[in-house]
Amino acid sequence: MEKLIINGSRPLNGTVKASGAKNAALGIMAATVIANGPCLIGNLPEIEDVEIMKDIIHSLGVKVKSKKNQAYFDASTMTTSDVETPLASKMRASYYLIGALLAKTGRASIPLPGGCQIGARPIDQHIKGFKALGATVDISENRISVSARKLVGDEIYFDSVSVGATINVMLAAVRAEGTTKLVNAAREPHVVDTANFLNLLGASIRGAGTDVITIEGVSELKGGEYSIIPDQIEIGTYMIAAAATNGNVYITDVIPKHMETLSAKLEDMGVTVENGDDYIHVVGNGRPYAVNVKTSVYPGFPTDLQQPLSALLCIAQGNSTVTENIFENRFRHLEELKKMGASVETEGRRAFITGVSSLTGAKIMASDLRAGAALVIAGLMAEGETEVYGLEHIDRGYESIEKKFSKLGADIKRVPYLTRSGS
Ligand code: EPZ
Repeated sequence: MEKLIINGSRPLNGTVKASGAKNAALGIMAATVIANGPCLIGNLPEIEDVEIMKDIIHSLGVKVKSKKNQAYFDASTMTTSDVETPLASKMRASYYLIGALLAKTGRASIPLPGGCQIGARPIDQHIKGFKALGATVDISENRISVSARKLVGDEIYFDSVSVGATINVMLAAVRAEGTTKLVNAAREPHVVDTANFLNLLGASIRGAGTDVITIEGVSELKGGEYSIIPDQIEIGTYMIAAAATNGNVYITDVIPKHMETLSAKLEDMGVTVENGDDYIHVVGNGRPYAVNVKTSVYPGFPTDLQQPLSALLCIAQGNSTVTENIFENRFRHLEELKKMGASVETEGRRAFITGVSSLTGAKIMASDLRAGAALVIAGLMAEGETEVYGLEHIDRGYESIEKKFSKLGADIKRVPYLTRSGS
């Protein structure tokens, strides 16, 4: 097992390069299964979720070769549409293989998804879409199996905006007969990136990035080369860390438009944010002002940055209210921040944060991926030493987190430790 040891209160200074977007990579990697030719995907982040998705795709008989931030997929050798590996229940996004395999072979069977414990996370909207396209869906013995003699396009109205359902049903629809219209679709950059990749392979998708996506079914998808967009949540995490340590940081390989909501919020807090063509420059200006935050679907404030920002709000001047409108259990990090001296109360989907002048280092445990990011930020700004446990969550979504922060001047180390059981 490993932990991070952080000696805080050191301003971050310098330049850090963003990695490719986890939540685009997972949809795009699943999409390679539909292609009849080889696909080369670049700018893949070196994170656990990408490694798991590669292993799951490989377990289908797909040829997978990878080096550093690139991976080559050739689905011409695929032998099965049944995902048997237990890896699939470790990561929620493995369910993208349902849509992809449905499009490729007309059937799929996969363990029910796992993922961060931030809420119930049902998949009823995914199932609604698959059924509308003509698939039968069976959920039993902790697996979901779908099959369709023929997929036929339809108009599908999502009851609620869902990134996963939008991407999954888009994957299933690319080879369906006729036209599919996804209404009330998610607009996140990773939805657009997945649609752009599918169009590169020969799909016919219009409207990605708006709430209506139209897909004209095509007979087959060929192979192609593609590079993933930068990770807006990783970038946002480093922007917040720069502000939290009163630092001066350039984040490169950025699409500033994707960061607009966070940039505006940080400016409201008194932080200086300057946009370049492909970088963002963040300068902290002392203790930030308290603000209220309401998470929403894109382009609203992203739920994935709610936890990192709430760490910064703990030392803001004044009282902040954070309303988490997307997931019902995304405040577990706040209990850990209270061990560092944060003053926080929660009531349902709202957290009430009373800013204190500083936090004090403590031993704290990450409960999920973005909670882990919040705890690292808290350690970077706290006085004294912080130990962050639960790195298996953080490593799912952040490439070389301690190396990137060290390069910015943080005193942060990853060290092994033995649990009582000796692991
Ligand atoms: C994706 O999860 C991301 N994961 C999440 O990022 C992100 O927080 C979320 O989108 C929202 O932006 C990946 O892309 C792999 P949703 P997803 O479907 O697709 C409810 C991270 O930290 N819902 O948009 O699961 C659901 O319960 C992760 O990188 C239904 O009710 O999110 C939630 O309350 C965490 N029925 C809301 O919609 C459904 O069929 C939004 O979920 C699907 C979702």
